[in-house]
Amino acid sequence: MKEFWSSRIRDLTPYTPGEQPKERRYIKLNTNENPYPPSPRAIAAIQAEAGERLRLYPDPEGTPLVQALAKRYGVAENQIFVGNGSDEVLAFAFQAFFDPGAEIVFPDITYSFYPVYAGMFGIRYRTVPLRRDFTVPVEQLYGGNDGVVLANPNAPTGMELDWNALRGVLEHNPDVTVIVDEAYVDFGGTSALPLIREYPNLLVVQTTSKSRALAGLRVGFAFGNANLISALNCVKNSINSYTLDRLAIAGAAAAVEDEEYFRTQCAKVIHTREETARRLSQLGFHVLPSKSNFLFVSHDEHPASELFSALRENGILVRYFAQPRIDNFLRISIGTDEDMRTLVKTMGKLTGKD
Ligand SMILES: Cc1ncc(COP(=O)(O)O)c(C=O)c1O
Repeated sequence: MKEFWSSRIRDLTPYTPGEQPKERRYIKLNTNENPYPPSPRAIAAIQAEAGERLRLYPDPEGTPLVQALAKRYGVAENQIFVGNGSDEVLAFAFQAFFDPGAEIVFPDITYSFYPVYAGMFGIRYRTVPLRRDFTVPVEQLYGGNDGVVLANPNAPTGMELDWNALRGVLEHNPDVTVIVDEAYVDFGGTSALPLIREYPNLLVVQTTSKSRALAGLRVGFAFGNANLISALNCVKNSINSYTLDRLAIAGAAAAVEDEEYFRTQCAKVIHTREETARRLSQLGFHVLPSKSNFLFVSHDEHPASELFSALRENGILVRYFAQPRIDNFLRISIGTDEDMRTLVKTMGKLTGKD
């Protein structure tokens, strides 16, 4: 019964987050979390902040975090927006840049939150089918829309769109906002960040959830022309001025400042990813070229839905999307070397190659 629900919410199908199991211990490769702990400096900063000052509201601008990001990424503070996870930053961006009734475009296979935001805010959307090899037919994003959203690297494929292709999209959409969601860019991708100087319509969204191992802290951020950032602040200050709490601001700022730890951890994940890709290919899997902290794989002889259930029975959680075109794929987050050895060994058993 939805009798008291608004009509917009009544018709909405919300996003389904990956499972966070409570009943038993799994090797958890289903939500693209980082297998390593956050920077010890981030944990120390959170602990130092967890005191008497919690009675006070946090800085509504998240200034220490904005300053740390400005320094690390070489941009002005008024070109940075911070929020409660990049999911919130994206939700604010949809409201800030796309009108109800307008039609935005994004690929048919991409982060499944985009259609949910569109539904939530009354924005129409058109999807552009990825090619059979899962590359983006960028020309189909050239104009004739009221906004473009691209995850780069894309999810759940992990594949990257190169700068030239992205430039093409920006050049051909000068009058609408182009959102590039770079949740996974630190695992070997190339950020579009330098392009914000050339394109006043480009918003680049990133997160501390993946490469800085802070999914539990909920901190995302965006870079763009000061004008775009003002619009995001306008939305934020019309909903909740204190989206980032004191612990989040302190912890994320410290994580951003710990560059050496960040680089070391990303390099480890990339190394493990390449090794896992090689070993899964040897077992007969098709492995898409990934620039993220996950692999998207399929096998001609073993349906993904069956492998998904069998892995689960063997204590390994991965992600399966029962969705046209990708329903024979599994998305496997990169865990520790030991996690991935267990995964490969189990896959070997399940595919009869052990
Ligand atoms: C493409 C993409 N964008 C954004 C997010 C949201 O990340 P968060 O809200 O943790 O920053 C995710 C999370 O899985 C993602 O896959």
